[in-house]
Parts: sequence; C-alpha cells; structure tokens
Amino acid sequence: FGEPLLAGRRVLVSAGPTYEDIDPVRFIGNRSSGKMGFAVAEAAAQAGAEVTLVAGPVGLATPAGVARRIDVRSAAQMHAAVLAAAAQADIYIGAAAVGDYRPQEVSAQKLKKRDGSELVLHLAENPDILASLSAQTAHPFLVGFAAETHDVASYAQGKLRHKGLDMIAANQVGGGLGFESADNALTLYWADGAAELPRTSKAELARQLVARVAERYRTARG
Ligand code: PMT
Repeated sequence: FGEPLLAGRRVLVSAGPTYEDIDPVRFIGNRSSGKMGFAVAEAAAQAGAEVTLVAGPVGLATPAGVARRIDVRSAAQMHAAVLAAAAQADIYIGAAAVGDYRPQEVSAQKLKKRDGSELVLHLAENPDILASLSAQTAHPFLVGFAAETHDVASYAQGKLRHKGLDMIAANQVGGGLGFESADNALTLYWADGAAELPRTSKAELARQLVARVAERYRTARG
C-alpha cells in the first residue's frame, strides 16, 4: 500500500525485433516476440507510471494501462521514435532486440535467383539507440538489456559501461529462456551492485525488474 512505486514518472519502453528490408518481400530480423518488453510496459503502468511503448513488428495487443504505443519496423525507425519520445521520459527501458546491421541498399524490385552464383549482401551498421541517448547531456535514466549465449556477465557489464547505462538486465539465450519463451531469468547489474532474478514468468519478472528500477532511479535521481 502507499503511493505506487513509479507514480508521476514517465517510462519509455522499447520491445520486439526490428526488420531490416532487403527487397519488397524479404528482410533480416530476429526471434524477439516482444513478450518481455510488453510485460515491462504493463508492469511499469501497474506501478503508476505514464508509459509509452515503442514496438517493433510483433503480434501482441497493447498491455492494459499503457498510455501510448508507437509501432515501428526498422532499427532506424525505432531509433527516431525512441529519441523523439525520450525528451518526455524519466526512464528508458530498452528491451527491444534492435538489428545491429541493415542492408546498405534496399532493392526496389524482388531479387531474382542467379543460376548458382552467390549473392552478396553488403550491410551497414545501425546507430545504437542507448548510446545515442547516453551521449545527450540531459537524458532519461537508462536501463538496457543484454541477450547473450555465452560469457553473459562480462558482456553485460561491458555494455553497461560502454553504452553509459544506469542498469542492465542480462539474460542467457537458450535452454528455453530469453527469446520467444513464456519464462525468463535475469541478472541485473549497475555500477556498484548486482541482483539475481531467478526463472519465472515474464510478467512476474517484469514486476521485479520494475521494482528494482524504481529503487535505483530514486537513489540516482531522487
Ligand atoms: O521479445 P522476447 O521474445 O520476449 O525476448 C526478450 C529478449 C530476449 C529480446 C529481451 O529479454 C532482451 O534481452 N532484449 C535485448 C536483446 C538484444 O538483442 O540485446 P543486445 O545485446 O543486442 O543489445 C543490448 C542493448 O542495447 C539492448 O537494450 C538493446 O535494446 C540496445 N540496442 C542494441 C542495438 C542498437 N542499435 N540500439 C540499442 O539501443
């Protein structure tokens, strides 16, 4: 009881994959379903926040209590939507699996088979949304995710430092957890601490994550 943890706070959440078009019928994507990010958006709304959800291409209904949803397709569109909304956000939680690369050129026509010769796609690096935000003088409290198949702790702590984050939520991919699954497990890292959130449903995990974010946010920003 008492005041909800994030009453009066504006929380921006990104969720889902991005699709990087190759031609009118093909794209490069990834296995993110959006479940984790949508659960985070719902948990933040339950905690009293005004929530904006930027969603990649997913087949999920907008969670109860979410004030605003912005649908995007590519990493460039997600970058633009998050940066525009971040000016009105106290906290950004980046649960989206943003494509690191996009085809350098998008073919206007469907690419055709080439009689046995190989097809080479040239890829250009996408801008990093979290790094762009942390480079700004005034920016929201930044929470990233890290999805890793190996050396989870060291990669996650590296991303915490290099991307200038306040907190990172690391998940191990595989063994029925991470992408697409109903359950997940997270290890949270911040500059001088860590916390284990053991395997449970993404809805419950999101509530635990939001409680930790609210606690760290209060410590850092008052
Ligand atoms: O959607 P689900 O099926 O429920 O799966 C959940 C999940 C596994 C996708 C989620 O829990 C998760 O880990 N999301 C981040 C996935 C990821 O690909 O992370 P990364 O290690 O590539 O990126 C690290 C962080 O940088 C992330 O917060 C990401 O949003 C951010 N990033 C990455 C690239 C980029 N260009 N800009 C970014 O801001």
